[in-house]
Amino acid sequence: MTAALPLLTVEHLTMRFGGLVAVDDVSFAAETGRITAIIGPNGAGKTTLFNCLTGFYAPTSGLMRLVHGGGEFLLERMEGFRIAARAKVARTFQNIRLFRGMSVLENLIVAQHNELMRASGYTLAGLFGLGVYRKAERQAVERARYWLERIGLTARADADAGSLPYGDQRLLEIARAMCTEPKLLCLDEPAAGLNARESADLNALLTFIRDRHGIGVLLIEHDMGVVMSISDRVVVLDYGRKIAEGPPEDVRRDPAVIRAYLGQEEGAA
Ligand SMILES: Nc1ncnc2c1ncn2[C@@H]1O[C@H](COP(=O)(O)OP(=O)(O)O)[C@@H](O)[C@H]1O
Ligand SMILES: [Mg+2]
Repeated sequence: MTAALPLLTVEHLTMRFGGLVAVDDVSFAAETGRITAIIGPNGAGKTTLFNCLTGFYAPTSGLMRLVHGGGEFLLERMEGFRIAARAKVARTFQNIRLFRGMSVLENLIVAQHNELMRASGYTLAGLFGLGVYRKAERQAVERARYWLERIGLTARADADAGSLPYGDQRLLEIARAMCTEPKLLCLDEPAAGLNARESADLNALLTFIRDRHGIGVLLIEHDMGVVMSISDRVVVLDYGRKIAEGPPEDVRRDPAVIRAYLGQEEGAA
């Protein structure tokens, strides 16, 4: 067994857009059962890092290795859809991307489409006839119900996803990502725009996912309160470069971080 290998290892990752180096020689690791926060000022390269991890962009150079279940996946060599389906990386976006006009429940079922198609053997007969498909379909519904319960939206299952309050839409996006049973969950500023109560619900959901589902979470977050209270490790980016990494309490005291990111409000702490 290859113990001790982290879930995700990023080595010397670089992403250039013309003359701009959005991610500049970044290396870090993220573990299963941990929330790893990625922080940094606007334009630091956080979303670009996610876009590389999830196959939206092919990085200019560097390595992204995911290890789980006895398998190893070199993400920089994989197509985006394979990264989701095989390497089991799920993400949410900085802007909400739910399927509006579909119900809350439908959003969660559609997310499991790959799984359902695989169960059908990609044939019509499989889709309509065979027990294996029905079983997968039943499991898809069960999983959806499980996550609806977790985010407190069971009673709104049939509502239009677009009609939910903003905070609930954020939670639904995370539930949808979890329905794909990822090993690595990448969340791009999930707390942005949430009020204090919604933010507390989000924190509870994320710590539940970490503690009970044994996956790794990468969390891009602006709210330092959220970062300090739920993350196990913090990676700080500034102008594409990693300027600090460590436990939250160390990072918040790091002079380079205070200078780059925390600024006046935290400088006195
Ligand atoms: N597709 C792109 N083409 C050109 N420049 C981009 C592209 N995506 C991001 N950038 C630039 O890369 C830098 C990092 O952006 P981004 O990763 O979105 O930062 P963050 O998420 O930390 O705010 C910014 O200067 C941004 O303008
Ligand atoms: Mg961003």
